[in-house]
Amino acid sequence: MIKSKRQLPSVKYFFSLIDWRFPTFNRSKRATEQALIIKDLASIARRCVPRVVYDYVEGSAGNEISYARSRSAFERIEFNVEALHNVSRIDPSLVILDKKIDLPIIFAPTGYTRFMHHVGELAVAAVAENNNLIYTLSTMGTTSPKELADAVPSVRRWFQLYVMQNRQDSLSIIKQAQENGYEALVLTVDTAVSGLRLRDLRNGLTIPPRIRLSTILAIARKPRWWINLLTTKPLEFAAFRGWDKSLVELAATIFDPSMTIEDVEWLQTVWDGPIIVKGIQSVKDAKKLSKLGIAGIILSNHGGRQLDCGPVPLEILADVVDAVGKKMDVYIDGGIMSGQDVYAAIALGAKAVLIGRAYLYGVMADGQRGVEKVIDILRGELINTMALTGARTVDEIRDLGATLRRE
Ligand code: GLV
Repeated sequence: MIKSKRQLPSVKYFFSLIDWRFPTFNRSKRATEQALIIKDLASIARRCVPRVVYDYVEGSAGNEISYARSRSAFERIEFNVEALHNVSRIDPSLVILDKKIDLPIIFAPTGYTRFMHHVGELAVAAVAENNNLIYTLSTMGTTSPKELADAVPSVRRWFQLYVMQNRQDSLSIIKQAQENGYEALVLTVDTAVSGLRLRDLRNGLTIPPRIRLSTILAIARKPRWWINLLTTKPLEFAAFRGWDKSLVELAATIFDPSMTIEDVEWLQTVWDGPIIVKGIQSVKDAKKLSKLGIAGIILSNHGGRQLDCGPVPLEILADVVDAVGKKMDVYIDGGIMSGQDVYAAIALGAKAVLIGRAYLYGVMADGQRGVEKVIDILRGELINTMALTGARTVDEIRDLGATLRRE
């Protein structure tokens, strides 16, 4: 039998093995540092915020089938591989609207972000700025277009818009985007009416949250979140500050069920920058929009939060890109939770992806630090996947391609 040759223990060797970094006693920071995948941040997030908040982010519409299908589509991806490429230098940057960003990842618009963490939209935009990425501010943001531009002046920023029931109302929102350096408008078109969000209805979600007897218990469970809520400025739809309307009244006028493609044409007459239409779910609609000369579309089922059992964006992506990809940019969102998912969408032809829930888990878990961690995780996974398939650039990901296997 072969045996190891023994020697006297070496003090020098022992000391060389010691990790001299001082342990951090900040529990959130430690938990964030230890997260390896986005799901780890989601678990931390669940512990940090009241259930009503977590469910608002996590939940989708109806039986939540659209969202489950969007997620599971990524499990059917099969990457193409080219071995023996020199992958010692990987560059995941790309040009979007004539300027380079460092990753094919854009921060999607998300409503009420200060409900998830008291710093909210500013924390996310700061991460976009630090990483040379694009941040999209939602019309339903809890930070105004100006506040965001003042606090994070050099972030590349887009503004998400609903065509509101009163077009004059939309114009006053567009004006704020124009005056504060937003380079593109992202028009959401999958919200003729609100989706049936059963979790929110069951949880009695109101924004701001109502303090009831049961809330006292909730405060005891998540004291930090509540202290932050009560000691920072009130939650509001900040783009509508000064309007004499309650949140409920505002929410009721933001979606216009009578909106048509003519409203997209109207928007082209009042906004002279790029327009990207979000919420496209068919090749037919993509073709119609490509005739208008807009900058791009986002294939999206709103993270499954509107129509349940609708089309799965990843499944229609290749056909849409075939039909219109030469005329405009085709982006995609919905269930992107890893760098592999980012890779998959690009390999099937997307220009870039938008992330929503993924970064909200980070912001709920640990504010700006949590969002930084989300980007670190996605970047690491994307670069790892690129190195292993043999794709050195985003264009090479597209050239290599991938197959979406049938179930
Ligand atoms: C807002 O866009 C939401 O999905 O809640």
